Amino acid sequence: MMIDERISTFLYSLETPECPLLEEIEQRALEERVPIIRKETQSFLKVLMQIVSPRNILELGTAVGFSALVMERYAPEDCHITTIENYEKRIPVARENFRRAGKEDRITLVEGDALEVMQGLEGPFDLIFMDAAKAQYIYYLPEALRLLRDGGVLVSDNVLQEGDILESRFAVERRDRTIHKRMREYLYQLKHDERLLTSILPLGDGLAVSVKKGSKL
Ligand SMILES: C[S@@+](CC[C@H](N)C(=O)[O-])C[C@H]1O[C@@H](n2cnc3c(N)ncnc32)[C@H](O)[C@@H]1O
Repeated sequence: MMIDERISTFLYSLETPECPLLEEIEQRALEERVPIIRKETQSFLKVLMQIVSPRNILELGTAVGFSALVMERYAPEDCHITTIENYEKRIPVARENFRRAGKEDRITLVEGDALEVMQGLEGPFDLIFMDAAKAQYIYYLPEALRLLRDGGVLVSDNVLQEGDILESRFAVERRDRTIHKRMREYLYQLKHDERLLTSILPLGDGLAVSVKKGSKL
């Protein structure tokens, strides 16, 4: 928990229910310990869908399709989402969830490693939601920049690692040190790459929101 627990509880209490199918998919994912976007990240993405009005979205890390369905619901009607997942146990569940929601024509699930799939894609995308392997974000970035249109938005989830990002590498468990190091490098890149303008928000597990600058800036 990165912000005061009372504030989180208060903000949660203000949330309104989603459509029954999304509520059911979320509940099942939580019961089965499938990692999905948190309530506060859901709210943020919904607002962002309405602000950006993306026609073409790329998501890295489908899991069971929850965040793709949330984005689809709040994006314009003609929006298309391409989402990538490599864990074979989750792929049929996601496909079934897209079918139940009647969104198979709006959401394309591509099976495979996110980086390899990205390398074979042609953009431009209006928005990229990065939510796959955290230690790979730094390697996804060049492809994300190639695929994003000027003015397009890159949203990266879990960038503050429950606050661990602040700790010295020696205070982080040995098995988490690679992620810790690479996530710090990633955040540095997001803030220092001249093609990007980035705001890092302590929302959920930390959300970085970047815009690919147009020629004026
Ligand atoms: C945090 S979950 C995604 C949650 C989903 N975006 C949601 O909120 O509903 C991350 C997913 O990325 C997948 N993943 C991890 N590494 C990957 C890779 N290299 N290529 C594709 N998917 C990957 C995992 O199997 C996992 O299902």
